Amino acid sequence: MAPIDSLPRDLALEREVTRRRTFAIISHPDAGKTTLTEKLLLYSGLIGTAGMVKNRKGKAATSDWMGMEQERGISITSSAMQFEYKGHVVNVLDTPGHQDFSEDTYRTLTAADSAIMVLDASKGVEAQTRKLFAVCKLRGIPVLTFINKMDLPGRDPIDLMAEVEEALGIKASAYNWPVGTGREFKGVVDRIRGELFLFERAAARGAAKANEVRAPFPSDEARELLGDELYERTLSELELLDMAGNPFDVKEFLAGQVTPTFFGSALINFGVEPFYDAFLDLAPSPGPRVVELKGGGEEMLDPVTAPFSAYVFKIQANMDPRHRDCLAFVRICSGRFERQLVVRHERTGKDVRLSRPHSMVASERNTLDEAFPGDVVGLINPGSFQIGDTISVKGGFSHPPLPMFQPEVFARVSPKDTGKRKAFDKGLDQLTAEGLVQWLRSGDGYQSESLVAAVGRLQFEVLEYRLRNEYNVEARVEPMPYECSAWLQGDVKTFQLPTSARLAYDRYDRPVVLFPTTWAKGYAAQKNPEHTLADFA
Ligand code: G4P
Repeated sequence: MAPIDSLPRDLALEREVTRRRTFAIISHPDAGKTTLTEKLLLYSGLIGTAGMVKNRKGKAATSDWMGMEQERGISITSSAMQFEYKGHVVNVLDTPGHQDFSEDTYRTLTAADSAIMVLDASKGVEAQTRKLFAVCKLRGIPVLTFINKMDLPGRDPIDLMAEVEEALGIKASAYNWPVGTGREFKGVVDRIRGELFLFERAAARGAAKANEVRAPFPSDEARELLGDELYERTLSELELLDMAGNPFDVKEFLAGQVTPTFFGSALINFGVEPFYDAFLDLAPSPGPRVVELKGGGEEMLDPVTAPFSAYVFKIQANMDPRHRDCLAFVRICSGRFERQLVVRHERTGKDVRLSRPHSMVASERNTLDEAFPGDVVGLINPGSFQIGDTISVKGGFSHPPLPMFQPEVFARVSPKDTGKRKAFDKGLDQLTAEGLVQWLRSGDGYQSESLVAAVGRLQFEVLEYRLRNEYNVEARVEPMPYECSAWLQGDVKTFQLPTSARLAYDRYDRPVVLFPTTWAKGYAAQKNPEHTLADFA
């Protein structure tokens, strides 16, 4: 594939690209995402003690970090957090869980170059992890697995790896191996380097780095450190793994076929630093991307030699009445970003000057001067950007459209005041085009109804808020009793629709089936082997 028009190699830009790691942490709530992220800050030297994050129950990760905005060198947007870690620049993308879980959580993953999947050792693969992993798989994003809470009684490590393979359809390869589990958890053996890391708690609740002793493994020194029994047990487990486990292959990892698996405890800092060190080594820096040319066909976009380009992956309405605007978050894919850059907005064909780019630090917005591929920039959105839009210096191409994700909450919407129907329709049309919620049509003629669908209930609140503030319409939102859906592929006429389910069409006229339970969805899939029920479109 021919490359997009190249510029002479810019060595400074190349250095910035190479040292960047843009990633997301995916997990089910409570598996330890916040704690693990906090430890990245601790090991980067940006915070002196961990445990600064208070009252975090039920909050999204970003708001947890907002209190740290004054800390030097940490830039926090409601979409990403950026700081230096051991000579690298890390962009940790925010993937809200808990009640903030929404299509944004999924879309943000499309902006990541890799992901860290955190599992709770006593629970294994849980529902939200499964959904987020499916998006990583769809996008071919390499995933590292961190099995957390090894300091608590948990499931057998071999069982956990088997569950990852079965439930997620990816090979798991133990990169390190726990020495003891639960109360006996003492450290890990790095299988690739043949090294034992033995830890000792340095402060209550892991507020400071754990003390660490290293020794080659196997070795007499390691035997002495662990004692005969634990040493022999660990050795025989490792011998078994060498024979029966999956080998680790970097190429397979980068292709999303194998996940290097690490064991540790984010709370007491056992195995966390070696994990992040391995992460820096293994996780890719921003790479080339395939783009679609305006006249048809595709080209490869090199992050260093192609001029600036980016795409919108999230749009956020500002709930602060002092700033009524929206921010469009873009992920830079190629070239150097500078203030005052004039770019082509591909969908509208207009040229736009990026005069007020922002990295938003809590409520204060800092104007940003320079950014590089892998970085996230917030742009003031005067209503012109939509999810998936491409901006570039050169123009003439687009990043591939973002997938649509299976909605899980549904509602009928209508204006409270029927006299406001026109403004309501306009608002709904614009906000669904922007990607805030999905719009569905169900039934024909007189029976026809407009529905809205989303991944998280919070989206409906944002919809109501924006209809009120931007279109001056009070909306009635009536929840409907469906909890999952799928795009129907195959002949609609021959599909046996369960009585509890409902057929609707999305804004591109594609059939979507709404189900009251995941069980009903599974049952419908079984009953209709000739059809496919897809979670993405
Ligand atoms: P999340 O962002 O994925 O939702 O999880 P978070 O890090 O907030 O962790 C959820 C709970 O699990 C917290 O306890 C946290 O302290 C605990 N935790 C995280 N990692 C480990 C670990 O490795 N070992 C143990 N034993 N616990 C861990 P909490 O009681 O809900 O909150 P807190 O009062 O401790 O802050």
